[in-house]
Amino acid sequence: ADHVRNKLGGSNLFVVSNREPYIHSRQDGAIKVTIPASGLVTAIEPILCACNGTWIAQGSGNADREVVDSHDCLQVPPEDPKYTLRRVWLTKEEEEGYYYGFANEGLWPLCHMAHTRPVFRTSDWSYYNEVNARFADALVEQIADEQAPVVLIQDYHFALLPRMIKERLPHARVAIFWHIPWPNPESFSICPWQQELLDGLLGADLIGFHVQAHCNNFLNTVDRVLEAQVDWERFSVRHKNHWSSVLPFPISVDFLEQGTVKTDSNTAEERSQLIAELGIETTYLGVGVDRLDYTKGIVERFLAVESFLERHPRYQGRFTFIQIGAPTRSNIPQYANFQRDVENEAARINERFGRGRWKPIVLLSRQHSHKEVERYYRLAHLCMVTSLHDGMNLVSKEFIATRDDLRGVLILSLFTGASRELRDAIIVNPYDTEATGEAIAQALEMDVSEIADRMQRMRNAVSDHNIYWWAGNLIGDLCDLRLSRNTVLKT
Ligand code: G6P
Repeated sequence: ADHVRNKLGGSNLFVVSNREPYIHSRQDGAIKVTIPASGLVTAIEPILCACNGTWIAQGSGNADREVVDSHDCLQVPPEDPKYTLRRVWLTKEEEEGYYYGFANEGLWPLCHMAHTRPVFRTSDWSYYNEVNARFADALVEQIADEQAPVVLIQDYHFALLPRMIKERLPHARVAIFWHIPWPNPESFSICPWQQELLDGLLGADLIGFHVQAHCNNFLNTVDRVLEAQVDWERFSVRHKNHWSSVLPFPISVDFLEQGTVKTDSNTAEERSQLIAELGIETTYLGVGVDRLDYTKGIVERFLAVESFLERHPRYQGRFTFIQIGAPTRSNIPQYANFQRDVENEAARINERFGRGRWKPIVLLSRQHSHKEVERYYRLAHLCMVTSLHDGMNLVSKEFIATRDDLRGVLILSLFTGASRELRDAIIVNPYDTEATGEAIAQALEMDVSEIADRMQRMRNAVSDHNIYWWAGNLIGDLCDLRLSRNTVLKT
């Protein structure tokens, strides 16, 4: 955390994201605070706590919706305030068009190779522009007359924001971090507004992705679409007389925070207790934790469990896979259909194999707190992350951070950014059902000393490259850029 503060020098930090870290809802008169299921929130929250900056995000609870004036600020975390949260409240139409529409029916499937067709509507695009402008107003107002503000914009919801900010505040240091993959130029060209999106992003001084491959795809897209100069040696782009650096910053988790679990607890006993609470009988546990999103490969994972039970019948009656699935973006038809597919598939496999009180799959479709999820991570023999495509995937790193007992095997999709760092996971292609099923057998039969060695190496990787390392590098690189070459912004 000191590392991040040092990199900031005396500057104040401003973060913008769509998702807010604390949702305040009124239930039976009282205000209940929940933390949303979001990799972005998990990653960014410790940084804000360490640097007491300002986080600007969409207001999403129902508790304070009446506070729609422009200075809607709270101090959070609620129990121990450390930074400022400013909410921007959107109308129903704005949220439909900008968030559900352009961001999640358009850009999300555009950037993930999950074979879901993106939908682009002109009306959604207008709302996307409008909401980016509303966030620009909020940010400019918050920054007021700061001398050297550092602005970190998060994700695909705000591709137009960097340019909007730099036009109004040329002295601000602006980075945007894209938390999802960037596809190849052919795929990206489906988007009717590719030029505008690239132009908006290139307002930033620094554009960050999780891995080099996404940077390369981005630079190739720019090369093809814009009249811009791409410097492949310095990974930067000159556009409208302004330079933007394009670099990888693999995101991570707050390792220390996650690693505080006691090692001396009686795991076997706790596991039996959990199994009893679930109302089942079984010996071995696998776990998966995801938003119920079609990019996460949840159906493929269930098929792998089915194949494993078919090919290794001795585990019938003894292995149960627990899927924690947080409902997400349910207004979008693909998501509602996906949730149904996941439920049907689990029911079919349970029907096929289940007997007595043993079930092969337990599907828990509701949001769980970090604490609840940690319990599953800690008691499972293996964790499966089988995304069809994923920028990084922080579930894999959270699982590792939790396992200070050096037990537990990670099965990880090769289509996640994390697979490039966590080489000691069992790496699988989730489209290959049999091989992924075999990975389950390999995990359950792995020697304890091998499990410990692999886990130790992965823990070292995550602890060296934790979230503070990520933020320190991002902020450090942003602050090291010479803004002098950025002075002329408009052509
Ligand atoms: C992905 C995105 C994040 C987002 C998260 C949850 O990880 O990159 O920006 O916060 O999904 O999605 P939601 O739509 O619920 O915010």
